[in-house]
Amino acid sequence: MYLGLGAAVVALFLIGQRWLREICHLGISWAVGFSFSPRVDLTGPQWTYPNGQLLGKFLNGVESSRAWRKYGSVYRIWSLLTPEVVLTWPEDVQSFYSDSRHHEKSPSSNAGWLFQQMLGNAMGLVNGKRWRRLRTGFEKYFTHGFIATSGPRIRETIQRCLDEIFVPGQRTLLCPNSKFRAIPFLCTAAHIYGKLTEDEIRILMELCALKRRIFGNILKGGVYCFPIAQWVRPAEVKELRLFTSDWLDFNKKAVESRKESRDAPIVRIWERARKEENGIKETLQTLDEMLFANLDVSAHALIALLLFLAHSPESQDILHLEVNAAEGNIDKYCNSKETFLQNCLWEAMRLKPVSVFSMPEKSSSQTRLCSTIIPADTWVVVDALSINCNPAFWGDDCESFNPNRFQRISKADLKWNFFTYGFGTRQCLGKYIADYIIKMFLILLIQKYEWTPHGNDTLRHEGGSAWASMSGIHIVLIPRCDTKTRKDSMHQTQ
Ligand code: HEM
Repeated sequence: MYLGLGAAVVALFLIGQRWLREICHLGISWAVGFSFSPRVDLTGPQWTYPNGQLLGKFLNGVESSRAWRKYGSVYRIWSLLTPEVVLTWPEDVQSFYSDSRHHEKSPSSNAGWLFQQMLGNAMGLVNGKRWRRLRTGFEKYFTHGFIATSGPRIRETIQRCLDEIFVPGQRTLLCPNSKFRAIPFLCTAAHIYGKLTEDEIRILMELCALKRRIFGNILKGGVYCFPIAQWVRPAEVKELRLFTSDWLDFNKKAVESRKESRDAPIVRIWERARKEENGIKETLQTLDEMLFANLDVSAHALIALLLFLAHSPESQDILHLEVNAAEGNIDKYCNSKETFLQNCLWEAMRLKPVSVFSMPEKSSSQTRLCSTIIPADTWVVVDALSINCNPAFWGDDCESFNPNRFQRISKADLKWNFFTYGFGTRQCLGKYIADYIIKMFLILLIQKYEWTPHGNDTLRHEGGSAWASMSGIHIVLIPRCDTKTRKDSMHQTQ
């Protein structure tokens, strides 16, 4: 059935006549709906040519989340030809994740062939014993305690990047798409590989550019979702092979040059991988997931925080005082969850989740939700925006930036009402390092600068994907020694 529908979609691509395409489209959307409706009896948007709601989910998450809520608290979308059930209520999320130890992820994330070729063997997409083995191999390098041992290197990496970007004592216009976007990426790489040489940084940046092009093709959907892409788009598919061989080469050389080093986790990660069947492939894709696939993820959280603070001078003042008070104990401060800094980060992540819809996963048992029952083996995604901006829990001001709200909420209550690093067993492996990098960046920045929005940029809560809606926004960084006040600056730039 899947094969037949897949072939029809590919054929549709290759058909030039518009009217013929329309007829095929109608036929496929009827067949897709008819074949799956007995299994998942829920309403939702109709299947659309050629990707269903796949790109709406990835690229226009904010608008899609709002538009699709009309179908109810639980509804169905199509990711390519696969139905996915969307949960929007915390009660339903809790029910679904009650057996999360037995959940499975989709090896393609229901995003098609090219995605699966790229990351299908990575930790975040494999299941069962393979997942447990991979997770165990990496986990010890990403605990709270182990991240602390990398603290000085992470700080040094951030400081070096800041020194390259900012001219001491001068105002700087910071564009979110500029070099500073790569800071979390370089910090994570420095944690895994130890100190990176200039040459290694250059190669990593080139690989980033290549990876960005490949990911761009995945986001086009259509023919890239099917193996036929190898024949109809050979040049683009070749880029993935090129990336894979260059990535292997980079890692082999990195391990070779660090053989004697005690503080580069990659050496032991690689040793372990070599002993296991498919170990190198899985490890390479997991490292790819942690670095390249996560580049925009971590950068997004960092940029969101900077932008919310740019619009909240009072919060910057509180933060500056808090950072000054922690002088001499910066590492402990950065690791603490009981700070205004932590609350600012949470608030930014609450309002601007990196991806509005979570990665699909399924349970092997049926799930009883408030309003319906989901059959076993049905793909489920969570609408993070509905959870994070649910007025019943967050109050009428749920759309506004108010870090202090976290002082009033217990951690237990946050469990199912706040989506950051995922729910259940498959939570983010990098949550401690991501938190540490972002908070340390803020600490180092706020000691020297204050910042304001540039021009008429406003923080839009509506429109675009969570990260696309912020990519054009700029901020101005003003050295703290500057005699001009922030208010003057805001006045000048408007
Ligand atoms: C602010 C930054 C980040 C956010 C918001 C974030 C968010 C997430 C989320 C929501 C998931 C679960 C996805 C799912 O439902 O399948 C996840 C998984 C994962 N993340 Fe992150 N992530 C961030 C940074 C990082 C970093 C820096 C790393 C590098 C170590 C990383 C490595 C991973 C891995 C390996 C998984 C798969 C875990 C598994 O399936 O066991 N993440 N992340």
